[in-house]
Amino acid sequence: LAARPLVDVRVLLTAGPTREPLDPVRFLGNRSSGRMGFALADALEALGARVTLITGPTSLPGPRVTERVDVETALEMHGAVMSRATEYDIFVATAAVADYRSAAPAENKIKKNADELTLRLVRNPDILAEVAALPLPPFTVGFAAETDRVEEYARDKLNRKGLNMIAANHVGGAQGGFERAENALTVIWHDGQRELPMMDKTRLARELAALIAERYQEHHAA
Ligand code: C5P
Repeated sequence: LAARPLVDVRVLLTAGPTREPLDPVRFLGNRSSGRMGFALADALEALGARVTLITGPTSLPGPRVTERVDVETALEMHGAVMSRATEYDIFVATAAVADYRSAAPAENKIKKNADELTLRLVRNPDILAEVAALPLPPFTVGFAAETDRVEEYARDKLNRKGLNMIAANHVGGAQGGFERAENALTVIWHDGQRELPMMDKTRLARELAALIAERYQEHHAA
């Protein structure tokens, strides 16, 4: 097998959390560090791909990619992805996109006057599902973080969102996932799957990148 199987292949990859503003000083966020996405961007670029990284706020350096676009909210990430998606061969969604945003972020800082405060939230677009539903979609890879029935839920997500591949990880308990240096993945596609056992996220990203390259080439040749 070629050492750089993705030469000239264009990859669009989302990473990190999103921040959904409530007012000028506050936001709804999540615990995604961006580590898995950055490591995967690095690993894909190392296989020869030209990677455009669209990332939410992280405190990570790098990675060494062709292009990096920084965004904050899910709507900004959605815009950055949808305006580019048709120009890419592979789309990988590792970002922990907020499912909801404030219906109406306050223009001024919310004051603590009342004993109770109700926030009204509205759904964010599902970036991954929208890319997969394009007329000529790129080879599309999603992630799934589940606490139970990992394989069943992931295979359902693969089919429901119309993906080519999904990398599922078990979150909660002693296993890997958010805010950790190690993780394990079950990678699923239509007619196969592979277990990538618990390992350092850098190594795991290299193995996943190799698997993406393998499946992409198979898909491309078909
Ligand atoms: O449906 P769920 O959020 O579990 O799916 C997770 C996958 O979908 C991840 O690949 C994530 O990056 C992507 N996603 C997205 N846009 C959203 C929500 C999830 O791209 N609004």
